[in-house]
Amino acid sequence: MDFNLDETQEMFREACAQLADTQLAPNAGDWDQRHEYPAEAVAQMAELGLMGVAVPEADGGSGADNVAYVIAMEEISRGCASCGVIMSVNNSLYCDPVRRYATEAQKAEWLVPYASGEKLGAFGLTEPGNGSDAAGMRTVAHLEGDEWVLNGTKAWITNAYEADGFIVFATSDRGAGHRGVSAFLVPAGQPGFSLGKKEDKLGIRASSTAQLIFENCRVPRGNLLGEPGDGFKVALSTLDGGRIGIAAQALGIARAAYEAALAYAKEREAFGRPISRFQSIQWKLADMATRIDAARLLTHKAASRKDRGLPYGKYSAMAKLYASETAMWVTTQAIQVFGGNGYVTEYPVERHFRDAKITEIYEGTSEIQRIVVARDVMGEHAN
Ligand code: CAA
Repeated sequence: MDFNLDETQEMFREACAQLADTQLAPNAGDWDQRHEYPAEAVAQMAELGLMGVAVPEADGGSGADNVAYVIAMEEISRGCASCGVIMSVNNSLYCDPVRRYATEAQKAEWLVPYASGEKLGAFGLTEPGNGSDAAGMRTVAHLEGDEWVLNGTKAWITNAYEADGFIVFATSDRGAGHRGVSAFLVPAGQPGFSLGKKEDKLGIRASSTAQLIFENCRVPRGNLLGEPGDGFKVALSTLDGGRIGIAAQALGIARAAYEAALAYAKEREAFGRPISRFQSIQWKLADMATRIDAARLLTHKAASRKDRGLPYGKYSAMAKLYASETAMWVTTQAIQVFGGNGYVTEYPVERHFRDAKITEIYEGTSEIQRIVVARDVMGEHAN
């Protein structure tokens, strides 16, 4: 077992750390306050090859592995959690399933420009009436001549306002339950496809989240991704990979809060000495560091299993569960270290705390991750 990074992984880490320190962290607070999409930062991320890290070079990506991807995600999210989710959705939820299920002809249009970062992708699974019960979707699609006609509403869709292309899940055979779900490639601006209002969120406020509304939206027959009825498997297998990206995002948020708390504890004085000299603070810092390292080991293990073609669904669920709960715990403790200063926007830890919360909710809540792990350990559904 080798815990050292290889040359490519180290290169991604260094480049992303530099971007995070010089461009992302100094601006993340303003983007958050203004709800501003960090377009320039996303363009810089694309230039570094971060929008399709594990996509083969022939398909427009960087041709690196998933361990490099999570290393990059951790650093970017340490600088700006919103940038992290924008990147994660494009890599894990959009490019990865298109790479796995698209035909060669579809890849030229729907993968290459997205993996290179020229275009941005999004993933439409959740609906206003169903989240955890992904199979309970109401959006429908039916064939009319050579076109699929989509009707329904998707909710909580990350990148909705900026995305050029969307993977949309809809039931094409109502009687078949989850086996009737299909996946469609839908371009932004297609007639019959509109966006709901931008959600006003607690955290990750520099990324857009909105509903996708389909009213007799027609797409060519060739925009089906995979075979009819493949959709549910496309969605769940995609989330297995997506959860590793969110684990890395949570890790980056936790690290940002921990590093801020460590620096503050060394500077801030109370009772005539830096508060870092008090054991109550030292124990917090020690527990933060330990949990962050444990979360990283789980995250890298899940990514490495994906790279080696081993089953990884249980491990990605474990990684997301542990990393997101670590992010929530670490950011809470960081505010405690900062005291009153942790509760105001002048310091970054209140933002890290707000950003952390979503990692316990999206791409499957902590409760869903526990279901995935439990089903596997009980031998009911190997992942
Ligand atoms: N990969 C591939 N197929 C899978 C799978 C996986 N990981 N897990 C299950 N399946 C297949 C099963 O084999 C089964 O197929 P067959 O019937 O053909 O054999 C089918 O899917 C149904 O399986 P289950 O009976 O286990 O499905 P279920 O209805 O009980 O649901 C669940 C399981 C784990 C609860 C699932 O619905 C789930 O993960 N829910 C959470 C949804 C989620 O994570 N949503 C996130 C939205 S995206 C997002 O958040 C993006 C963002 O903003 C950034």
